[in-house]
Amino acid sequence: MFKYMLEGHTVPPRSLLKTPAQIEGIKKSAEVNIACLDEVGKRICEEMSTKEINDIVNEVTYGAGAIPAPLNYEGFPYSVCTSVNDQVCHGFPSEKVILKSGDIINVDCSTILNGYYSDSSRMYMIGDVAPETKKLVEVTKECVELGLKATKPWGFLGDMGEAVHTHAEENGFSVVKEIGGHGVGNDFHEEPWVSYNTNRGEDMLLVPGLMFTIEPMINMGSDAIYTDGGNNWEVYTLDGKPSAQWEIQVLVTETGTEVISY
Ligand code: MF3
Ligand code: CO
Repeated sequence: MFKYMLEGHTVPPRSLLKTPAQIEGIKKSAEVNIACLDEVGKRICEEMSTKEINDIVNEVTYGAGAIPAPLNYEGFPYSVCTSVNDQVCHGFPSEKVILKSGDIINVDCSTILNGYYSDSSRMYMIGDVAPETKKLVEVTKECVELGLKATKPWGFLGDMGEAVHTHAEENGFSVVKEIGGHGVGNDFHEEPWVSYNTNRGEDMLLVPGLMFTIEPMINMGSDAIYTDGGNNWEVYTLDGKPSAQWEIQVLVTETGTEVISY
């Protein structure tokens, strides 16, 4: 450990390493988290409003005795984030946003059960999606899978970051820089902050017990984004081109990784 600190690496404090009892609690929370996105996947369709997605998440979450983590989190007014097309993240569910053929949408769901946090998001494609947009969604999923593969005990967070941004860039896409992933489990957002623009051997040492999200936001055009000044939450691409994101919650184990939520 000391060796890594001398080399200038951040070594996670013991408080970030999840105990077996905590992991068990977080996995129960993740069961509800996964069930929300499964249910959204079954019911999402053209002509549905994003408010109805908020209703589905409430129904599944409260039905399981859990709490939607986004609701009232730093003033966020809904139970889930629904980000359509050029919305990068933190989209507000609304009766006025009606899904139509060709849309892509990220549904980002976060759950609290017995004080334990789970967080994951998926993309859904509505009707006939343009080939380049479909490619964006698929490549973004591959970025997460490659990032997961590069996540290894006693490796570095930057190994994961390099895998993500290399694959995105090879496909002509860009990676959002300002917003990243995070440690999660005992709280909604824990250390470390997770960038996808890092390189191999950089950033935090991956110690067994560390838990964080891999959730890159990948843009079809430039990586430039802006936040809606009216609500200070909803983030859009500056060029109006689509953005995609998938999110998984990962535990570093002694022998590899375990996906806790997806
Ligand atoms: N679910 C988002 C994440 O992946 C957090 C959104 S903050 C909220 O970190 F308030 F909008 F929920
Ligand atoms: Co997250």
